[in-house]
Amino acid sequence: MKKSISFKRSFNDQLIEILCYYSDDKNKQDNAMKIESLKIENVGGISSLSIEKFDPKMNIICGENGIGKTNILDSIAHCLNKSSTSILRKKVNTEIGRICIECDFNKNQAYTFLVDSFEPRNYEGNTPAYHEKLYKHYMENSPYLIYLKTERLFSHKWIDNLNIYEQVERHLCNLDGVSNENAKDWFIKNELLSSKPYTNDNDKNSIELAKKAFGILNQSYSFSALKQDMEIYINTPTGIIPYEYLSSGFKTCISIVWGIIREVQIRFPDIFVKDFDGVVLIDEIELHLHPEWQGKVCSVLTKTFPNAQFIISTHSPHVIQTAEANEVIALSGENGHLEKRTLDIAPYGFKGWTVEEILTDVMGMRDTRTEWFRSKQKEFDKALDANDVLNANRIFDELRLKLHPSSTDLALSRFQLDMLNGRSK
Ligand SMILES: Nc1ncnc2c1ncn2[C@@H]1O[C@H](COP(=O)(O)OP(=O)(O)OP(=O)(O)O)[C@@H](O)[C@H]1O
Ligand SMILES: [Mg+2]
Repeated sequence: MKKSISFKRSFNDQLIEILCYYSDDKNKQDNAMKIESLKIENVGGISSLSIEKFDPKMNIICGENGIGKTNILDSIAHCLNKSSTSILRKKVNTEIGRICIECDFNKNQAYTFLVDSFEPRNYEGNTPAYHEKLYKHYMENSPYLIYLKTERLFSHKWIDNLNIYEQVERHLCNLDGVSNENAKDWFIKNELLSSKPYTNDNDKNSIELAKKAFGILNQSYSFSALKQDMEIYINTPTGIIPYEYLSSGFKTCISIVWGIIREVQIRFPDIFVKDFDGVVLIDEIELHLHPEWQGKVCSVLTKTFPNAQFIISTHSPHVIQTAEANEVIALSGENGHLEKRTLDIAPYGFKGWTVEEILTDVMGMRDTRTEWFRSKQKEFDKALDANDVLNANRIFDELRLKLHPSSTDLALSRFQLDMLNGRSK
């Protein structure tokens, strides 16, 4: 049965109305959650946006700086966050912001229901008590959302005493995002306990998965040992080093993978981390990653957490290059009126596309060449048209020095210049 619930959140004058449609099935044991669709009106810089269908596994949001990607992730997180915060703001000069989200709390039932209005439907009873019950039930699902914001790096921390008491409540504030604080304590505690007979299989599996994170993107790295000085040591091609000494790219990947493992373990002690079937939001997934790793990070995530739904934002064509057709949400629009662009030209995904093709046809870059090249090419064409042999040769010499040695543009220019030189003999 599909239910709807609406509630208003406010912080100072930041009134945001949230309308949630959700389905649940009381006969079901597990509580999987997936986001199905989203509508936003007057939230942050977004005047209007409708995303009618999210992919159940991977969703990659792209669009220019300031278009509203973080606003979208914050909006989703806001719908499944118990307390009001100041992070999400209504659009200035508007009365109220609105978010309409449709969640599926039951993975066995597929819905084709689209949100087409902000009016509540299936709102049985409409009494405050019933509303309260719905709200409570709805919010029981908020732990199934994990949000990783852009803060991922961590610096060295001496461990003089282990901070082992995790307050679950602190991990449930979906708007603040997952924090790296105490991640080291968490790892050390779990590693120390993993050999104990009373440690359950889920906890043992969590620490094994956390250790594997070191080799996930580069097999020459692996967990070495937790030594007596309470430092986590890693085998690397340049020696055995404490984990904080790793490069920014490595730390970023570890903080993403550990962040998810740790949250699942703390929020759901009874489930095996790999089976987590909730939603993971990640802002700017490519941060600190070399293009080669940018091209691997999504598959690492979907392999490590095969049942989770990822909604991530990116500026990286390498991330998009790994996507299937239905996984990319390319945003465009003006004055905050956004839409998801149709990408019919790639019905079979982007795995065969070049980075250049993705930059222009998906990410909306007008030209991937520099201003310098464009103006030189114009000058060269002008010289060719005017049969100006001297200038054409001069410009070609410049192009020859600065273009890639096997550039097809250079080959074409050379051919055109040979024709001109031949004609002028
Ligand atoms: N309350 C508000 N009212 C109107 N506009 C706002 C408000 N808050 C933020 N903005 C605008 O919304 C945009 C911020 O959107 P957001 O941070 O989601 O962009 P983004 O796509 O994540 O960009 P980036 O790629 O740079 O991270 C900015 O352009 C900002 O000017
Ligand atoms: Mg952003």
